[in-house]
Amino acid sequence: MIITNHRRPRGNPLIRVLFVCLGNICRSPTAEGIFRKLVDQQGLAGAIDVDSAGTSDWHIGGPPDEQAQATAQARGIDLGGLRARQTRTDDFFAFDYVIAMDRSNRQKLLALCPAGQQDRIHLCLSFAPESGKTDVPDPYYEGRFDRVFDLIETACFGLLAEIRTTHTL
Ligand code: 4NP
Repeated sequence: MIITNHRRPRGNPLIRVLFVCLGNICRSPTAEGIFRKLVDQQGLAGAIDVDSAGTSDWHIGGPPDEQAQATAQARGIDLGGLRARQTRTDDFFAFDYVIAMDRSNRQKLLALCPAGQQDRIHLCLSFAPESGKTDVPDPYYEGRFDRVFDLIETACFGLLAEIRTTHTL
């Protein structure tokens, strides 16, 4: 008998989640790492796939920012293997949830998004209404990596709860 704690109910397609920021070196890789850990902890690694990307081409192929890595490492999350990539049009067919870190990046995603696929795009902090904020601040310019981590983590809990309800996982 094969025993697995990876749940992927028969017939249910893999649910794919893409986190998007500007550079794909601070906020979205942080979100990818947090969300993947939550998915693993809840036994859903076989049901939910996670990735991240940036709307710019500035850091393609590069690792996450050192401070973003250190902040995540201090919370038990290793971002070291991630490499930046840019969003592309087919992301809107491959991913069910495209999560923008702020309104600026949401606008860029909407401009890239094929007609009819816009419903896939959500603002990250719409899953953390208790934060009272709309945009995840950009720590590359504003610092406060810990605060950014906390905001993203809160939203990741909300997003996963929403996905579990919507897809009865
Ligand atoms: P991120 O932060 O969008 O959270 O990855 C940034 C990273 C790099 C730059 C801007 C924002 N940059 O100007 O290179």
